Amino acid sequence: MEKLSFVLPKGRLFDQTINILTRSGVIESLVNRDSRKLILETKEFRFMIVRPKDVPVYVESGIADFGVAGNDVLDEGEYDIYRPIDLGIGYCRIVVAGKPESREIYNSNISTLKVATKYPRIATRFFMDRGIKPIIYELYGSVELAPLVGLADFIVDIVETGTTLRENGLVVIDQIKESTAKLIVNRVSYKVKSDSVFPIIQRLESFGGGS
Ligand code: PRP
Repeated sequence: MEKLSFVLPKGRLFDQTINILTRSGVIESLVNRDSRKLILETKEFRFMIVRPKDVPVYVESGIADFGVAGNDVLDEGEYDIYRPIDLGIGYCRIVVAGKPESREIYNSNISTLKVATKYPRIATRFFMDRGIKPIIYELYGSVELAPLVGLADFIVDIVETGTTLRENGLVVIDQIKESTAKLIVNRVSYKVKSDSVFPIIQRLESFGGGS
């Protein structure tokens, strides 16, 4: 039978994803990520390893049958994919943060504000819904620097342990949403390969995921 393909996010979610796939019995063989290889073959799967933001692209296009992505990534794009299971891993919060003294500005009656973020759509939607027009500076990382050097007054970013904010003297000012990782499935695979796709979904569901 043809192997299923699974696209995994590198970084913070990688180990947690491998862990849940192993413990739920979805994968039996060892997945070793101690090289720079982008494709890992196991008995059951062809794993592809990409930046978290790129995961849905591979699943939507059908290159991968499965993928794992958080709300931060999924809400930032509009993907035509199945999102069947909350894996209950990768918990973080999507927040507005800034210097402590920016709280006052935030809570005053402002009509516009400067925001640095890796999530321009999530940030724009959030502020527009509140009648605030954001001026967005889209960055690709180390977003916490922006308020420190005056690029923006606020950031919209994910917070996991809070260490990065703390070490840079920033605080959470508002919460946009909580985020956990979801198993996402290509729509065609879901129908055409249901014999092999469903058992995997079921395993993960009975292991503790829920929609
Ligand atoms: C993420 C996020 C924060 C940090 C939050 O960045 O953008 O900077 O992690 O985690 P913490 O609350 O546990 O400190 P990432 O590590 O992905 O690096 P990047 O900024 O270079 O994208």
